[in-house]
Amino acid sequence: MTPQLMEAGVRVRQAMDAKKSDNAGQSGGRQTSYSRVVQPGELDVAHGAILYLDDITVSFDGFKALNALSLNISAGELRCIIGPNGAGKTTMMDVITGKTRPDVGKAFFGSTIDLLRMRENEIASIGIGRKFQKPTVFEHLSVFENLELALKGNRGVQSAMFFRLSGEQLDRIDAMLTLIHLKDSAQRVAGLLSHGQKQWLEIGMLLMQDPKLLLLDEPVAGMTDEETERTAALFLSLEGNHSLVVVEHDMKFIHELTHGNPAKKVTVLHEGSVLAEGSLADVQANEKVVEVYLGR
Ligand SMILES: Nc1ncnc2c1ncn2[C@@H]1O[C@H](COP(=O)(O)OP(=O)(O)OP(=O)(O)O)[C@@H](O)[C@H]1O
Ligand SMILES: [Mg+2]
Repeated sequence: MTPQLMEAGVRVRQAMDAKKSDNAGQSGGRQTSYSRVVQPGELDVAHGAILYLDDITVSFDGFKALNALSLNISAGELRCIIGPNGAGKTTMMDVITGKTRPDVGKAFFGSTIDLLRMRENEIASIGIGRKFQKPTVFEHLSVFENLELALKGNRGVQSAMFFRLSGEQLDRIDAMLTLIHLKDSAQRVAGLLSHGQKQWLEIGMLLMQDPKLLLLDEPVAGMTDEETERTAALFLSLEGNHSLVVVEHDMKFIHELTHGNPAKKVTVLHEGSVLAEGSLADVQANEKVVEVYLGR
């Protein structure tokens, strides 16, 4: 096996490992009031929320990166999160994905899955996909191979390489190549793609795993205007079937994602807490928000 494949294997394993640990992270038997009993570890969005953060505080040497943060994301929602540098946006994603443990607070995926009881790899395996700011694709593999590994990842690279793709899986990769505008580059080595194309490939790799919730940290940083517009269109096409939490500084992009729809909520974080929440127009007109942005 080549070093690239080994590297790929480690990453895929880390990201996909714990399909085995079905019973991990259950919330201790909370059930809904509905007649159907929710199995331990099963995502239950019967109450509408796919993500529920309550009173989360994270301290680093006494400094509160998150300070009693509460946030609710509805199933199928596309939520934009803005806020000045250091507001706690990335730390919030670290908490959701199990990278950072809060001092206090609650974090639930659906109404029954307690994220604070789960390990990072378990959280990835239950349908929470995360895109970091810097694209992390396998540079030495082709675009197609990157998507193929993402699809088969939970089997481990070695067996994945010997496992033939079914017609249905080939169709899925083909559809993904079209969705992320990389059909003409399927056989290109990923390292030769533009920065924006690498971002898309990574989003495509996340989508191959069909996550219910996607966390995207500054996904259009470094993209051209055209790439940014295409990314907005892509995210809008995912809304409804997936839930998305998008952190961005690029206000033009936020504008495209909300496209003047007052029903779409934008959350403003500041000093580890929610400063304002509402339509883009409302938060942009909010005096506290204006002060925070002008004051920096
Ligand atoms: N591991 C850490 N140790 C100490 N301080 C940290 C750590 N991680 C984050 N911080 C601090 O917590 C605060 C919030 O950081 P965070 O990265 O979450 O902000 P952000 O909103 O993502 O900012 P940006 O828009 O610049 O990405 C910052 O003051 C940061 O310096
Ligand atoms: Mg950040």
